[in-house]
Amino acid sequence: MAKGLPLDRATPSTLAPVHCPHFGPCGGCSLLDVRYTEEVGMKEAAFAALVRGSDALRKAKILPLLRAREPLFYRTSLKVPFGRKDGAVVAGFFKRRTHSIVDLAGCAIQDPLLTELMLDVKRLAAAIGVSIYDERSHHGVLRHFLARVGAGTRELLAGFVVRTPGDAAIRELALATMEAWSGRGLVGVVENVNRERTNVILGEATTTLVGRGHLDEEADDLRSRTPLEAFVQVNAAQASALYREVVRRLGPLDGKRVVDLYSGFGPIALRVARAGAHVVAIERNQVAAREGALAADDNGLADRVTFLAADAEHGLRATDAAGLDAVVVDPPRRGLAPGLIATLKSLAFRRLVYVSCNPETFVRDLEALAPDLRVVELRPVDLFPRTEHLESIAVLDRVHVDRDG
Ligand SMILES: C[S@@+](CC[C@H](N)C(=O)[O-])C[C@H]1O[C@@H](n2cnc3c(N)ncnc32)[C@H](O)[C@@H]1O
Repeated sequence: MAKGLPLDRATPSTLAPVHCPHFGPCGGCSLLDVRYTEEVGMKEAAFAALVRGSDALRKAKILPLLRAREPLFYRTSLKVPFGRKDGAVVAGFFKRRTHSIVDLAGCAIQDPLLTELMLDVKRLAAAIGVSIYDERSHHGVLRHFLARVGAGTRELLAGFVVRTPGDAAIRELALATMEAWSGRGLVGVVENVNRERTNVILGEATTTLVGRGHLDEEADDLRSRTPLEAFVQVNAAQASALYREVVRRLGPLDGKRVVDLYSGFGPIALRVARAGAHVVAIERNQVAAREGALAADDNGLADRVTFLAADAEHGLRATDAAGLDAVVVDPPRRGLAPGLIATLKSLAFRRLVYVSCNPETFVRDLEALAPDLRVVELRPVDLFPRTEHLESIAVLDRVHVDRDG
């Protein structure tokens, strides 16, 4: 997993609320050995230290961490590599800082249904004799197993990432998985082809092997469809809380004009539109942008949300900025490109809400957005309990900058 917050573990570890046999070496989580209240304190302290270290942020108000209601078994999305150890098929998270797979027998942060599905797929793959990918030799077929569960619908979607398409054993595995799990909510199994020697999990092409290629999801009275190629937050329950915070921070929205950059399939854009705004949602992934447009239609919001399949910076430049009230950005870990920061600074909208999953690039970008956009409020959000990872929201307001001196 990518690097998280530098937490100060001065507090000695106390009784673990859950005893996971994999805790320690497994890279899936790292804070099972502290109580959740201590974890909250550690994260708040680390976030405050980061903010205090920055001249641009020092004066901003920091709200308390938005805690997760359920800090265990919360992951509604699973992505694990498959491999072989001593001839046996293994599947699980990588050991910390290695590419050696921890052969999971259970997991304290994953939705138990997904863990059970993964264990069944591993058993079936071994029984069928599926060819397992070996990253050192770049041989074999099955690389990763992906699965999602709809928090509102409890539908399941499964996917195999394979090095070569059309493998007969993979098809057999898909059919056997469907047969075993259709009564428990599995609606489809897809195949994604990734031929490259790479750490990036998904490749370009995805096809449906059996059933359908997307999950129907319902959250906060909004319906959407999420194929495996479209980004979804891994913690559906806490994502709803995050989105509520974002909408609240935008203020009254009736009749306002908002741009949602890095929109994914539009969970923020749809909520902002439902609150009365006209929204342009910009997302590079064409599948996600297409699903967003379908969701807008399905929820009766098509007249208020437009999805643009484009790079954030180019899409924003192509959007009519006259009368724009606010912008939301929710970039991947690398944060905002310098060109996008320059464009955001040059436009005249009043408020920017920045949602980030990487505190380092978050602080870097907030500093770069100054002095035109000043941070007034910060809120850490615990989207990834039991790990060092932290989501954060910043509210920035435009300051009139006299460029002539
Ligand atoms: C952290 S996700 C946020 C998605 C959405 N806001 C949500 O909460 O589900 C970042 C999104 O940015 C998209 N993305 C990455 N680089 C991009 C770029 N240069 N321009 C536009 N979208 C991009 C990804 O495909 C992904 O959907």
